[in-house]
Amino acid sequence: MATIKRIGVLTGGGDCPGLNAVIRAVTKTAINEYGVEVVGFRDGFKGLVENDYVPLDLRAVSGIAHLGGTILGTTNRDNPFNFHRVINGQDHFSDRSQEAIANMEKLGLGGLVVIGGDGSLNIAYRFYQMGVPVVGVPKTIDNDLSATDITFGFYTAVTTASEALDKLHTTAESHHRVMILEVMGRYAGWIALYAGLSGGADVILIPEIPYHIEAVVKKIRQRHQQTKKFSIIVVAEGAAPVGGEMVVQKLVPTSHDPIRLGGIGNQLAEQIEEITGIETRVTVLGHLQRGGQPIPYDRILATRYGVAATENLIEGNVGVMVSLQGTRITTVPLQEAVKEIRKVPLDSDMIRAAKAVGISFGAE
Ligand code: F6P
Repeated sequence: MATIKRIGVLTGGGDCPGLNAVIRAVTKTAINEYGVEVVGFRDGFKGLVENDYVPLDLRAVSGIAHLGGTILGTTNRDNPFNFHRVINGQDHFSDRSQEAIANMEKLGLGGLVVIGGDGSLNIAYRFYQMGVPVVGVPKTIDNDLSATDITFGFYTAVTTASEALDKLHTTAESHHRVMILEVMGRYAGWIALYAGLSGGADVILIPEIPYHIEAVVKKIRQRHQQTKKFSIIVVAEGAAPVGGEMVVQKLVPTSHDPIRLGGIGNQLAEQIEEITGIETRVTVLGHLQRGGQPIPYDRILATRYGVAATENLIEGNVGVMVSLQGTRITTVPLQEAVKEIRKVPLDSDMIRAAKAVGISFGAE
């Protein structure tokens, strides 16, 4: 194996608290442990295609572990295998993966750390199949990557949503209202489930359990009559009623995942108000869940991932994603990591616990 002198790192997909902690860990491990140089590509795979990069030294990554966002920038649109550009007002798509590989060769890169969710890791896997030494780091607030127990950023998003629920509680109680909090998560209900359990929701609606509006209303009425005259509902953006569809907010045709969900909260509020006559308000938490400082858990997980990714890349264990299994950091083949998204299992003890403390999933 040729000795590696320099590696690259990039952040792809939607941003997420903890990205900077990974970039810092990758850079410090490469320099301190192996004497290997690091370059960071700007705006994810776009930087790789356009050879837009910045050298990362110890000074560049000093003092960033606690910062949200990514110092490298990111995008959830640019795919080197189907690269979008507007030429004379027209959309053009072309495969520019060979240019990306040529750029890596010109820079003398011995490998690439890709910090991303399923979209970016799929791209990373395709590069690996073309001979590029790649190690992936699982990132997403949605926590929907299979082959790892937890993605970094998830618990920070849960903390933000849980704090929002604490605040909604006091105003809901004062006004005797139903308050709906719509959270992100795409096609999985992890954020809704964890935030709802932590924030004392009365109803949690997730994509994995299609709901009956009658069951939601029954829970609200029960509370109104027996305990408190307000209710808190957490709804995942991907939740849908039995026999109904997810609500699509918009389509982003240039993205490798073009569907943007959103709007189920308002739909639900109208129905609840109409059936019960109780004033119902909606808060869409949106990108607040992705912004701001990572909580300590995510800084630590991100650092452990970054260190492990660099060690594996430089020591030649490539085509893998670093993964948390139980309390251990290990690696799994990238192919496994991108096979399917991870949904909340219906027999999850989280669902059992939520039901035991009286939370309704709108199913019964
Ligand atoms: O995957 C992260 C995520 O925040 C999802 O929860 C959400 O559906 C999507 O990204 C939003 O994407 P955008 O930032 O393009 O609106």
